[in-house]
Amino acid sequence: MSTQIDHLLNETRRFAPKKKFVAQAVGTPELFEEAAADRLEFWANQARTLLHWDKPFTQTLDWSNPPFAKWFADGELNVAYNCLDRHVEAGNGERVALLWEGENGDERRVTYAEMTDEVKRLANVLTDLGIVQGDRVAIYMPMIPEAIAAMLAVARLGAIHSVVFGGFSADSLRSRIDDAGAKVVITADGGYRKGKVSALKPAVDLALADHNGMGEQGTVEHVIVVKRGGNEVEWTEGRDLWWHDVVPAASNVHQYEAFPSENPLFILYTSGTTGKPKGILHTSGGYLTQATFTNRVAHDLHPETDVFWCTADIGWVTGHTYVTYAPLSNGATQVMYEGTPDTPHPGRWWDIIQKYGVTTLYAAPTAIRSFMKTGRKIPKQYDLSSLRLLGSVGEPINPEAWMWYRKVIGGKKTPIIDTWWQTETGAMMISVLPGVAETKPGSAQVPIPGISLDVVDEQGEHVGNGNGGLLVSTEPWPAMLRGIWGDPDRFVETYWEKFADKGYYFAGDGARLDEDGDVWLLGRVDDVMNVSGHRLSTTEIESALVANEAVAEAAVVGAADETTGQAVAAFVIIKESYLAEHSIEGLAQELRLWVGEQIGPIARPRDVYIVEELPKTRSGKIMRRLLKDVAEGREVGDTTTLADTSVMSVISAQVR
Ligand code: WT7
Repeated sequence: MSTQIDHLLNETRRFAPKKKFVAQAVGTPELFEEAAADRLEFWANQARTLLHWDKPFTQTLDWSNPPFAKWFADGELNVAYNCLDRHVEAGNGERVALLWEGENGDERRVTYAEMTDEVKRLANVLTDLGIVQGDRVAIYMPMIPEAIAAMLAVARLGAIHSVVFGGFSADSLRSRIDDAGAKVVITADGGYRKGKVSALKPAVDLALADHNGMGEQGTVEHVIVVKRGGNEVEWTEGRDLWWHDVVPAASNVHQYEAFPSENPLFILYTSGTTGKPKGILHTSGGYLTQATFTNRVAHDLHPETDVFWCTADIGWVTGHTYVTYAPLSNGATQVMYEGTPDTPHPGRWWDIIQKYGVTTLYAAPTAIRSFMKTGRKIPKQYDLSSLRLLGSVGEPINPEAWMWYRKVIGGKKTPIIDTWWQTETGAMMISVLPGVAETKPGSAQVPIPGISLDVVDEQGEHVGNGNGGLLVSTEPWPAMLRGIWGDPDRFVETYWEKFADKGYYFAGDGARLDEDGDVWLLGRVDDVMNVSGHRLSTTEIESALVANEAVAEAAVVGAADETTGQAVAAFVIIKESYLAEHSIEGLAQELRLWVGEQIGPIARPRDVYIVEELPKTRSGKIMRRLLKDVAEGREVGDTTTLADTSVMSVISAQVR
């Protein structure tokens, strides 16, 4: 089978940044020149200027044992010092680090001085509990300031955190605690979600209790609990400690230690769509360099004046890099919001932007498409004029969703950056620098300065402009994963075996290079369809569907077909305003023809199913595998990683 992915959509709209924006932009064309002239020296410069090193490094990259990279290996630093104390020492202790908003309306402003104080106290508590360099601490918390303090206190001690998303079950928590061998768990009684308290502590109790059931002693010795939800909790004397008892009572004097650049910083489990979750391992100096740098140049961060808001949960890598590490390392002020976008009303996000004067919004396409579904009337009720930059991350953003984002949220004036990266890459790999290039709706466009990527065929050869293929990284990068926790062979097999002779990292995504050499992501290679011998990308057909004014969201799969091998099956969510006025049958027929007109008969869906929901993982990614089961009339497979497990039975019923 060829890896050439056929190119179907042709998007020609271009948006140049405003002069005023260009004049103040942090990212400049010179960065690309410097990086091209000497890639390693470029990263060494960034590491030296953006971070504080207690012991300067002399070697930039050690690639003597690929694919196990070492960046800045003989340097020493403390990640938490870089994110907190250094700003206080520079006289910015009174700057607000977090503008926190609880879902229930609670508010807290936390300054850099306060955050530093809290982290020092918690570091002392953890030390008293026996946590030392290299130990693992699991964090299972709602989006509250203590969650960030917990991550940084662990980092301050040179220990390793494993944040487990608060929406995961006791089972998922248990397997992650066991795999990492965590000694301490930091959690909360509960947090607010969808208007009520969602309990966390009971899941921790359950996760830990099962060891006893099996007669085994788990690795966890202590559980620290923040009181947030106010819900009743069970207590295990000797093991459980209230945060409010131990943290305020601890000393706020804590002398940090400097750790080697390659000291592990965190493990983050990524489930993918199949198989046992992989514990992606990240280390300190290289990760923090690329995180800090990309946050500056791609988010155009002006720490003194911006109000930054990355909406991701700290349970995902986006929350690690662009909520905890990068904004704090840069000394920025950011919004942190505990709850869901539609609680207690569908305008909550826009209300928060108006209230805090958010300048920079970094969100996922799935959120944007859900706002499209409910309509522009809601955001239009708020003053969003403080926004000066919008970002997108996590999935391809369809051109029409991009246009909606720009028009309705950005008031037609803000640049949009579409940023491609992965849990494994640690930080952004592809994004426009917003003051440097024109933007193209639907394209992530260019590698970040210092990042080397290519789109290649099955043999690893460059496909050339105008063609589609496989996205690879051709050179090691500072924030790259250093391995899979406890499983070096799986690390090599999963990412490096496919192009072993070239030494390329294979990300699993399809991509296309346009006539300018800009990158367009085409979706996961596993999802690519083969219709009559043509390899079609899910992204392009979905984008064509979203380009119809009736459509808010679409997912496309290849379903077995006797004549064409596979046929296109589309699952479509219609905007609320259209549903009332049109028949389902009429809409389905219209959309079949529409795709045919937009991109050609080959892509015309055999089936269009109008549905109310799509199956998504808890991080918002569509699980096409399950839709394929429905389209092929099979029993639906494992749905345990879905955010809402009932969605598939609703879809199956609707399709029948
Ligand atoms: C996968 C990684 C990026 C951090 C959050 C998700 C998809 C991510 C984009 C984008 C098209 C994207 C890819 C990638 N993806 N960003 N801008 N355009 N696709 O991290 O959960 O590890 O997922 O998300 O398929 O491989 P993740």
